[in-house]
Amino acid sequence: MAHPTDGSRPSSARIYAHLLGGADIDGADREAADTLVGAFPSVRDAGRANRGFLLRAVREIAATGVTQFLDLGSGLPVHPNVHDVARALHPDARVVYVDNDPTVVSHRQATADGDGVVTVEGDLRDPEKILEHPRVRATLDFDRPIGLIAVAVLHFVPGDAQAVISSLRDALAPGSHLVVTHACSETMSEEEIKIGETIYQRTSSPVNLRTRAEINALFDGFDLLPPGLVPPADWRPVAPELEPYPERSHEMLAAVGALSR
Ligand SMILES: C[S@@+](CC[C@H](N)C(=O)[O-])C[C@H]1O[C@@H](n2cnc3c(N)ncnc32)[C@H](O)[C@@H]1O
Repeated sequence: MAHPTDGSRPSSARIYAHLLGGADIDGADREAADTLVGAFPSVRDAGRANRGFLLRAVREIAATGVTQFLDLGSGLPVHPNVHDVARALHPDARVVYVDNDPTVVSHRQATADGDGVVTVEGDLRDPEKILEHPRVRATLDFDRPIGLIAVAVLHFVPGDAQAVISSLRDALAPGSHLVVTHACSETMSEEEIKIGETIYQRTSSPVNLRTRAEINALFDGFDLLPPGLVPPADWRPVAPELEPYPERSHEMLAAVGALSR
């Protein structure tokens, strides 16, 4: 059962932004982050490698001509954001950020909202509601390709994550892409799994790890782009001077798929 995102529990979004070096946190957030890093020091590298992958993936997809992105579980703004990377290639790129944490939504809306970059509250456990959201429909053209991003979020979604992605996929036009990272039960030690599950259980987003095969199955209907499903740092690495997050990590697997039908 997911926990409420009403500020009464440590926020996975604030902990993650803090791990990236992009947020000052205090109180219950600080306590959870310090406990997590103390017991599981590589979690900081995992967050940073994840973010580096996300930015490279958006750049690569934008380079194929995709100018629209739907970023699910976007987290707090951390520069560069998805829209910064997309707009470096396509100044008129349109981006919708979705998160189920109201504090993330209000923070994003306060920093950038309008002119083709909008943030809406939505929950991946109800993908139809996201697809029907008036601001999503007003910002994105579903008859043209969309970069669908579900990075470091599906491991917070219990149950049938494949069904969630499939219903989103069915709304997409050919040429759309799916970008995923997901914490993997087969690449983490038992100790790491125990620590991660215990600490995130207290946050707004308890963790649901999946196997490599289950993560691969999220790409049903998509063709995986080379190099396939790999640790985030191994996905199309760039020269160190171009990489803001050079860290390596083993906790998550990452991939990008293209929708060809
Ligand atoms: C670890 S952050 C990832 C941020 C960003 N995607 C990235 O990788 O840089 C996870 C985000 O997912 C959000 N989240 C968790 N469960 C969610 C759900 N069921 N629906 C939508 N967002 C969710 C959290 O509030 C948090 O902002």
